[in-house]
Amino acid sequence: MLRIGVMVSGGGTNLQAIMDRIEYGTLKNCCIATVVSSNSRAYAIERAKRGNIPVTVISRKNFDSEEDYDRALIEHMKKYRVQLVVLAGFLSRLGDSFIQEYRNAIINIHPSLIPSFCGKGFYGIIPHQKALEYGVKITGATVHFVELEYDSGPIILQKAVEVLPDDTPETLQKRVMEQAEWVLLPEAIRLFSEGRLEVNGRKVIIKN
Ligand code: GRF
Repeated sequence: MLRIGVMVSGGGTNLQAIMDRIEYGTLKNCCIATVVSSNSRAYAIERAKRGNIPVTVISRKNFDSEEDYDRALIEHMKKYRVQLVVLAGFLSRLGDSFIQEYRNAIINIHPSLIPSFCGKGFYGIIPHQKALEYGVKITGATVHFVELEYDSGPIILQKAVEVLPDDTPETLQKRVMEQAEWVLLPEAIRLFSEGRLEVNGRKVIIKN
């Protein structure tokens, strides 16, 4: 059984997608051991509670340094014997020691086709605003392993989503979530849990 730690900051629809797939039995041999929220007002906390998943608020602002924050997060994940960390709309920055501790075992979902519309500052609605401003016809979502630089780690899965002529950032965000994010993130977890992801430099090989 793969023990997952999900880190959230907001609405938690990606967390919900994982919870649903586990409940429906289409994501097997996985359990969410802990949810960590960076924000005490995140709606994701309610979702975790409703699913009877232990949820803890750990905020960067309560720590003097990035090292202390990382240490607390590592201790927390160890306490819950977490084997895979999933960033599902997590907005705090993770430090080097956390990333080293869980090397190739932290995955993030980003709402664009990396390397477009990503990096520092591209979170929430912003990737969708920028995609519309640029005039792209296709956007999407990416699941990748996490490295220190924002949105820079090896790509696991991507899915394209059409941009429609009358899209607003909000309608585009909704379509990207429904068609790509909620599908890709559980799928990447499934591949990880089956031991099918092999990282080779920048590339992720999906084994049969
Ligand atoms: C998602 O668009 C995710 O890709 C991004 O933040 C949003 C979080 O949504 N990183 P939710 O909290 O899962 O509803």
